[in-house]
Amino acid sequence: MEKKFKRTLVTCALPYANGPVHIGHLAGVYVPADIYVRYLRMRGEDVLYVCGSDEHGVPITIKARQQGCTPQDIVDRYHKIIKDSFTGLGINFDIYGRTSSEVHDRNASQFFRKLYDEGKFITKESEQYYDPEAKTFLADRYIVGTCPKCGAEGAYGDQCEKCGSTLSPEELINPKSKLSGAEPVKKKTTHWYLPLDQYETWLSQWILDGHKEWRSNVYGQCKSWIDGGLQPRAVSRDLDWGVPVPVEGAEGKVLYVWFDAPIGYVSNTQELLPQSWEKWWKSEDTKLVHFIGKDNIVFHCIVFPSMLKAYGDGYILPDNVPSNEFLNLEGDKISTSRNWAVWAHEYLEQFPGKEDVMRYVLTANAPETKDNDFSWKDFQTRNNSELVAIFGNFVNRAIVLTHKYFEGKVPAAGALLDVDREALAEIPSLRASLEKNIEGYHFREALKDAMAIARVGNKYISDTEPWKVAKTDMERTATILNVCMQICADLAIAFEPFTPFAAEKLRKMLGVCLCAGTDHRKGEQQTVNTYKEGECAALHTVSADAPVPASACPGYGKCVCLSWDMLGNTDIIAAGHEVGAAELLFAKIEDEAIDAQLARLDAIRAEREAAAKAEAAKQVTPQKEECSFEDFEKMDIRTATVLEAERVPKTDKLLKLTIDTGIDKRVIVSGIAEFYSPEDMLGKQICILANLKPRVIKGIESHGMILMARQNDGKMRFITPQEALVNGAEIG
Ligand code: 2FM
Ligand code: ZN
Repeated sequence: MEKKFKRTLVTCALPYANGPVHIGHLAGVYVPADIYVRYLRMRGEDVLYVCGSDEHGVPITIKARQQGCTPQDIVDRYHKIIKDSFTGLGINFDIYGRTSSEVHDRNASQFFRKLYDEGKFITKESEQYYDPEAKTFLADRYIVGTCPKCGAEGAYGDQCEKCGSTLSPEELINPKSKLSGAEPVKKKTTHWYLPLDQYETWLSQWILDGHKEWRSNVYGQCKSWIDGGLQPRAVSRDLDWGVPVPVEGAEGKVLYVWFDAPIGYVSNTQELLPQSWEKWWKSEDTKLVHFIGKDNIVFHCIVFPSMLKAYGDGYILPDNVPSNEFLNLEGDKISTSRNWAVWAHEYLEQFPGKEDVMRYVLTANAPETKDNDFSWKDFQTRNNSELVAIFGNFVNRAIVLTHKYFEGKVPAAGALLDVDREALAEIPSLRASLEKNIEGYHFREALKDAMAIARVGNKYISDTEPWKVAKTDMERTATILNVCMQICADLAIAFEPFTPFAAEKLRKMLGVCLCAGTDHRKGEQQTVNTYKEGECAALHTVSADAPVPASACPGYGKCVCLSWDMLGNTDIIAAGHEVGAAELLFAKIEDEAIDAQLARLDAIRAEREAAAKAEAAKQVTPQKEECSFEDFEKMDIRTATVLEAERVPKTDKLLKLTIDTGIDKRVIVSGIAEFYSPEDMLGKQICILANLKPRVIKGIESHGMILMARQNDGKMRFITPQEALVNGAEIG
């Protein structure tokens, strides 16, 4: 039987504060988590929603160095951009903290110290790369060289960004320190390791036997890690940015970012709820759910749980770790370094009022079981053909007609016909499916269920045609519009988790509010239902900043307060209730807006291709096998001048050149028409291999070969003496 919990703690992977968040992050982690949290809140569940910036790690120090500022400057900048992006998209964490905070510093330090004191770590001495000029150990990212796999320059000590290979610094050809350019040397250093091998049996029982219900990508990754045999993992690094290792003699060492970051979830909870945080982390009545991307699975399922197990003290483990695969953009992997992304903060600027559209599209296309693609055309189609044409259209018709025929007052329903009963009967079963899907973390399917409710409404109003019926039968029109109003209220409930801005707008139009929800903003958790500013605007006002308990609201008991439990009821909005004027829930997105986005991506692609070409041009082919002087002497290389030049008919690449070699006048057929026109060649002094055995090319006998220099990108140029010489001058 499924365990009943009293509360749910939802965490979202802490994004690195070394860049803004993009749609891949949103689709993978934050939008699904937000849907889940909003759903639970509507059900009146006690939920805590925790996230924050991950502000340590080597990439942040690299970025700071590149930009000539401090790591703190970098994290301050991106923390704000990321936080604002989440707020802009309606992703409202109870706390969005930072791992550079004092609370976290203390907490992570104390966590390490307890494990250290209890002998839970082992130490190991190893040889690591060291920069003798900068006098510092080098993280793998700080070492660059030639990729042993693809030959690209500038590959990092942990990865080649060109071919995607995972590397170790030892494999790099010609490794150099990114700091000083010096050749790194190996030097001994000591680090602390968490002996994961000691937790293998326990992990296997907990996950492989106990959590077969986890998504197959998560379960599969855990299984392959555990089956492959776990190794001790270093939890410290030689670096000057991070939480200092709280042990004597550990100067210059900090906690490894993947050791301190997950502790950040706990620190942020402590910061928000200094008195009651333990209830969220140390009670078996709490359901802990980590939302993450697939590259974080091992850390959340293997490493962090082992850390908590080692720590003891009643820490709970995750009940589930829903993790998505990756989202691509227009068929290409999203990449921060290649600027191949749709950045959340830019989207919010460029598409004001369309926050829900992105949430909707990312959910409809969520990479839940496999990598998926985001395309701007699909974004436009989903907005115009689904949100506008189905959801928005139905709501608009229903409210406009209620105003037209009943002055905005919900009319009383008369006797229901089959068509009414059938439409209304679909909603409870869609609700059941929606609940099952959200609770099983199948958000894409859940969205289809919500959309199916809009389809029911749209079909119902099209089939019953109240605008025609009104000409002859107002009683029947009243029934139809009463049914429509109930379906509108269903939509305001069902879409709250997915498109919260539209749901709020719809609530305002309908003159209803949303009362369910818990609030933590006062620092201590309250489990009362609260109103927030504007929620009940149609009927009464509530105070601006301090949320108040439902019972303190002046409209308590008077207004229509939606909650999840009402979804599918046939009397959510009573007859006589006044609805506001119709406003469009969604607006069409025109081609221009989409074309502008595609043009931006095209420009990035073109720039990338040009850079790749320039890079390829720089590469040279390796030296050929040795040859003897005698071999070379056999070749008769001389100067010559082009007397006549013409294209070889019916070919693209060939020119027929008549040349003066000083010895004779002869014809050479050369494949240079791609690079030179006949006019370009006329009168030019060139170098030729004169004694090449004659060959017939396209019916023309060619006597010799023009010497050309060829770049790796294919570009060719003929060789000419630095100043004019007599024809026939020997080269050697
Ligand atoms: O992959 C990332 O973006 C990491 N910063 C996630 C950290 S999650 C947690 F453990 F803090
Ligand atoms: Zn490579």
